[in-house]
Amino acid sequence: MALFMTQTVSSAERIGSARAIYGAIAVPGDKSISHRYAMLTSIAEGESRILNYSTGADCRSTLSCMTAMGVGHRFAERGGREELVVRGRGLRGLEPPLRYLDAGNSGSTIRMLSGILASQKFSSEIGGDESLSKRPMGRIMVPLKEMGAHIRATNEQFPPLTIEGQPLEGIDYAPPVASAQVKSCLLLAGLYANGETIVREPVRTRDHTEIALRELGADLEREGSAVKVRGGKPLKAANLIVPGDLSSAAFFLVAALMAKEADLAIANVGLNPTRTALLDFLVGAGAQIKILNLEQVNGELIGTLQVRTSRIRGGAIEGAMTAALIDEIPVLAILGAVSELGLSVKDAGELRVKETDRIATVAENLNRMGIRVTVRADGFEIPGKQQFQAAEIDSFGDHRIAMAFSVAALAAGGESVIHNAAAASVSYPEFYATLREIAQ
Ligand code: S3P
Repeated sequence: MALFMTQTVSSAERIGSARAIYGAIAVPGDKSISHRYAMLTSIAEGESRILNYSTGADCRSTLSCMTAMGVGHRFAERGGREELVVRGRGLRGLEPPLRYLDAGNSGSTIRMLSGILASQKFSSEIGGDESLSKRPMGRIMVPLKEMGAHIRATNEQFPPLTIEGQPLEGIDYAPPVASAQVKSCLLLAGLYANGETIVREPVRTRDHTEIALRELGADLEREGSAVKVRGGKPLKAANLIVPGDLSSAAFFLVAALMAKEADLAIANVGLNPTRTALLDFLVGAGAQIKILNLEQVNGELIGTLQVRTSRIRGGAIEGAMTAALIDEIPVLAILGAVSELGLSVKDAGELRVKETDRIATVAENLNRMGIRVTVRADGFEIPGKQQFQAAEIDSFGDHRIAMAFSVAALAAGGESVIHNAAAASVSYPEFYATLREIAQ
């Protein structure tokens, strides 16, 4: 008998248990890459075409910010697939925004776009929702100011940001936090700056900006842990394909690994090596995951993942690995609780300044589901071999919390309710429909 069922009640989803996960699915276009393609094609010269642009609300926020600065875009059909056509205005062609730039819930939008706004010939104001208004911006403001930018924020830290465009000078900067958003912000500012801008990463983070910049013809090179961009070179338009989002696929990988029976294929997933720490961790913990049809598109690796139900030992996430797995930790916490040895997460203070304080929201919801967890300032310990109980869950407005605990609900012995479930649409509007399709 199929125990699984889910239905929408305003913004709540009811999710019952599932014994098996079967199917062949695709996930939406990668959120990180979609943001970068939208911003970079907007300041490139000519018309770019982007297939598989993320359907998430965050990436719509980026597009609407670019539109507010005069960038034309439309969705068109090509060979039965929807493509985004962006009419780039060149490095110097953005227009003063007619309105406040609304980044919604998206940290990537505000942090990366600030790098472009800092060097325009106009002033702008950019902010977002309640969650975004609590996220730290000092990490981009300090180096941008060193480049000559004029930026103001609430208490020197929080959105909205008021940015008065200025001519910028290249800098040589080592960010104190490992952050691809900070690195990308500075590389985008560096496109406009006088001379060379160098970012020295403390820990290697996702390199989608570097790959996309090279694809569009920027003057960029990597030397060890340093990325260097020389300002002033125009970007050219391109035809681009966004790989499926591995961080979205992570929810289904974990659902399959926890099920009594599973055989699931996820097609065209982005497998950039700066993102695949998730696969290394899972395979290291005993997961049966295979990669099929590996190919390279626009400098990014894409492949199909095939996952079968597995015995998961559990493990430890710390140091550089924490930074590489930061978005997947909520769903790995779910897997950790049913693993043999449990999961220990350290050096993850960054989780406290994501869309919610994810250490607190993971722990709160684990407790509601009867799972023991010990919380520390920079992580948590979850003993293994635990059993989820059905419960009333709250996403607290955080997309990854909504999706991680929907996966947990499949392993509980009854029906759970996910409140504020619609938060999932920030990165994955089709999430519940796909979950329904594969869970039996
Ligand atoms: C992202 C970088 C990471 C990640 C976020 C997306 C990006 O944030 O958590 O979801 O697209 O560059 P940080 O740069 O703050 O680590």
